[in-house]
Amino acid sequence: MCGIVAYLGQKDAFPILIKGLQRLEYRGYDSAGVALIDNTLKIYKCKGKVNDLVQHTNNKDVKGTIGMGHTRWATHGVPNDINAHPHLSGDGNLAIIHNGIIENYAALKTELTKRGHSFISDTDTEILIHLIEEIQRETRTTLDEAVRMALHSVVGAYAIVILNKNNPNQIIAARKSSPLVIGIGENEFFLASDATPIVEHTRNVVYMNDDEIAILDRQTGLTIKNIENEIQEPFVQELEWNLELLEKGGYEHFMLKEIHEQPTSIADSMRGRLDAISGYVKLGGIKQFESKLVNAKRIIIVACGTSWHAGLVGEYLFEDLARIPVEVEYASEFRYRNPVLYEDDVVIAISQSGETADTLAAIELAKSKGATIFGICNVVGSSIARNTQAGAYTHAGPEIGVASTKAFTAQLTVLSLMALSTARQRGTISESRFHELLVELEQIPQHVKQALKTEAQIKYIANIFKDSANFLYLGRGYNFPVALEGALKLKEISYIHAEGYPAAEMKHGPIALIDENMPVVVVATNQSAYEKIVSNIQEVKARKGKIIVITSTKDEVMNELADFVVEIPQTAEPLTPMVSVVPLQLLAYHIALLRNCNVDQPRNLAKSVTVE
Ligand code: AGP
Repeated sequence: MCGIVAYLGQKDAFPILIKGLQRLEYRGYDSAGVALIDNTLKIYKCKGKVNDLVQHTNNKDVKGTIGMGHTRWATHGVPNDINAHPHLSGDGNLAIIHNGIIENYAALKTELTKRGHSFISDTDTEILIHLIEEIQRETRTTLDEAVRMALHSVVGAYAIVILNKNNPNQIIAARKSSPLVIGIGENEFFLASDATPIVEHTRNVVYMNDDEIAILDRQTGLTIKNIENEIQEPFVQELEWNLELLEKGGYEHFMLKEIHEQPTSIADSMRGRLDAISGYVKLGGIKQFESKLVNAKRIIIVACGTSWHAGLVGEYLFEDLARIPVEVEYASEFRYRNPVLYEDDVVIAISQSGETADTLAAIELAKSKGATIFGICNVVGSSIARNTQAGAYTHAGPEIGVASTKAFTAQLTVLSLMALSTARQRGTISESRFHELLVELEQIPQHVKQALKTEAQIKYIANIFKDSANFLYLGRGYNFPVALEGALKLKEISYIHAEGYPAAEMKHGPIALIDENMPVVVVATNQSAYEKIVSNIQEVKARKGKIIVITSTKDEVMNELADFVVEIPQTAEPLTPMVSVVPLQLLAYHIALLRNCNVDQPRNLAKSVTVE
């Protein structure tokens, strides 16, 4: 999720761009750059944050009343000066900045290379500006028309802004699946990924729609057309939100915004990686080492915290679908217990930040023993990503809230794709089961959207239990890790003690804790263990525990047993955790809110634990 800002008007563009990028830095910050036109096209870009860009442009010529800026959250190509945006066409006349993913960039690159194009960066963005250049050269048409034609060949998500050295009076922009907002001032225009850089200049905005192209011109003003070249009437709105609300997309906290982003972030973590109809699953980053996974005698998953819970779901996925033995290890324990490791072991390190010290150390230990290491990270070019032989990025976008939510479900998405692809190649699931699970996986964003609709009910439940001293979370099978994750979410942001348990484990001790003051959250969506978990609920009921059930099958038994029944869409059992965790994330959030806790930055916690 990158940050885009642009300006066309009478003022100096540079200070407006820099301030705009600083407003957008929460969207991603591994490198930044600007392009300005004043007699010529000037590009300044570097790895690092916006402040590093400011240092980089010290004493440089940053004049110009037209320009654009970009703060990058890398998806293709590690963060460095070369991969930073803007990118130039081959002739140096066109500059582009981009937020999104061009899925078919490799095919486009092959075709353009045949036509004599050469590329400097590893980005998909550079391919796009060369494509536009090639089309304009071939058709001798206007830049906006060349953009329109090029976008017909593009598969993926984009918000792009383009400058033309030979036309300092015009900015071209286009969007599909990535946001872009136009600000309309007095003889000046603004463009940005969201309204935060715009609101201090003007409150008149146009939210661009998918497949729209905008032409901002000093003479002709604002023109919007769709990809079919039909003129669109701009719908100008007046912004009401203040800056703080805008940064959080209108949500009170980043955590709530990120919980609600999950339909999109899960879709982004699948984008370009599966097609249920053709049965296509492709994780480019593991292709080269995929045979190691397919032939693995054992998989060891190392992680911490929420990522460790994702690893537990991974254990169920790989054992259930691919029939490969899996061990899930706390990285902090693994690194010190002198583990037995073999060269044909496959280690999967899971980490949102890609900087967790214990996980990094666990990788180093495994590498020293000759194991093959895969990484599942959210931050491109992070230490863990760079220290693994192969892996897949989760593409969840920056996760600002300390409590991990969208990164967790994105990790589960990638693990599901890995397990399905491995199972198919090992022949441990039938083609029909493979296709059935792919179809279900494509539906998960919709199911999560439905699960988010339980928020009003969750708020009501939160209000009843906000002063409880303890909580128990129970689950079986694939939902056992979800119970652990639900307990961790509650603990870390509301400071209420909570424990997750396998539901059947209650009778081995914890049931002694049950009385009328103990709320028990039971994740009871499993199709295979449903009857078993019903009897576990009966055991809790018999001891007067207060029962909150998350279920995908509303039946009379559950209604009689539970004090509260939260219903979520049913999906294939291996994919349930991505949906069943959502009400638990919301419950933790709303209880913490009612307890006036600092939801985004809970006490004692850091977003990335880079120390032991
Ligand atoms: C989860 O909500 C916590 N913020 C924490 O447990 C986190 O999952 C853990 O520190 C691991 O972080 P990582 O995924 O960045 O490696």
